[in-house]
Amino acid sequence: MINNEKICFSGVQPSGNLTIGNYLGAIQNFSRYSEDYKCFYCVVDNHAITVRQVPAELRRRTYETLALYMACGLDPEKNTLYVQSHVPAHTDLAWILNCFTGFGELSRMTQFKDKSARHADNINAGLFTYPALMAADILLYQTDVVPVGIDQKQHLELARDIATRFNQLYPDTFTIPTPMLAKSGAKINSLADPTKKMSKSDENTNAVVYILDDRDTIIRKFKRAVTDSDTCVRFAEGKDGINNLMTIYSCFTGKTIEEIEREFEGQGYGTFKLAVGEACADALAPVQQRYNEIISDKAFLEAQMKKGADEASYYARKTLSKVKRKLGFVQI
Ligand code: TYM
Repeated sequence: MINNEKICFSGVQPSGNLTIGNYLGAIQNFSRYSEDYKCFYCVVDNHAITVRQVPAELRRRTYETLALYMACGLDPEKNTLYVQSHVPAHTDLAWILNCFTGFGELSRMTQFKDKSARHADNINAGLFTYPALMAADILLYQTDVVPVGIDQKQHLELARDIATRFNQLYPDTFTIPTPMLAKSGAKINSLADPTKKMSKSDENTNAVVYILDDRDTIIRKFKRAVTDSDTCVRFAEGKDGINNLMTIYSCFTGKTIEEIEREFEGQGYGTFKLAVGEACADALAPVQQRYNEIISDKAFLEAQMKKGADEASYYARKTLSKVKRKLGFVQI
């Protein structure tokens, strides 16, 4: 909370093409907070370089992620939209929080374990201390709520622990943030292996539906989605593929699981998969149309980046200077 304003913060890495997991688990929910909260939505490029990026692709995806924020309904007049590296207070506070984060705590992070297994040739210090930077992102704005998917919950818990620890040593420094998970859609799974999270870094592009996939591609990917040998569209244990498709359909249509079971009673998986593909394509069409209008206007995007960075810096500097004062740093 800053000056009685409630604060919402979240971020997305420009590390790959954004998926319907990012959309349903996070970005779609961001605009829900715009009316009642002061919202900061960040393109977290510093996080992205914890794994190797091709510079031209990182640059392109940074613009794309900002454009997608807007295409998904985030009005830059109502939300502060910006790029992390444009506000150096993030990395400044991250260093400080690193000194209040335990080696053991960071070692327990499942995302670190997964990513270091996948990038065994580049297990760098940034990958390890990533959650301290994430805590800095959040705590810098005295954030009350953080809309995220389930995979980020462990990082959020660590951010809360770091804030609590810091506050015990230096009272009233940080607001303790609360993670806000989407009611359904907080974990969208891969279409090829529905026991695994759908991920923008998956090499199998058929396992992932991207927000910018065209209609035919979306429908084709859903048709090929892995299901089971049963034929009945119902939500049940052991039916991971169907459960995942029902969740996706429910998110895009607003129908409940019971309504979906009734709608497809007596019909095969083929009909259901086609309906999921069509619902997804229909819902994404207006987002794609807005995106295409925005992405070609680089000057507009850069002006928004600049405006967002100025706004964010104003808030970030307040917390950073408070933290430095409490720590005993001389400020000139
Ligand atoms: P990232 O870029 O991996 O994902 C962005 C958001 O999308 C959610 N998400 C999903 N939700 C449901 N199903 C999925 N399959 C799925 N895949 C991704 C993520 O949970 C996330 O909310 N570390 C973060 C970025 C970050 C951040 C922050 C988030 C940096 N600082 C501060 C919140 C607050 C990340 O890698 O997200």
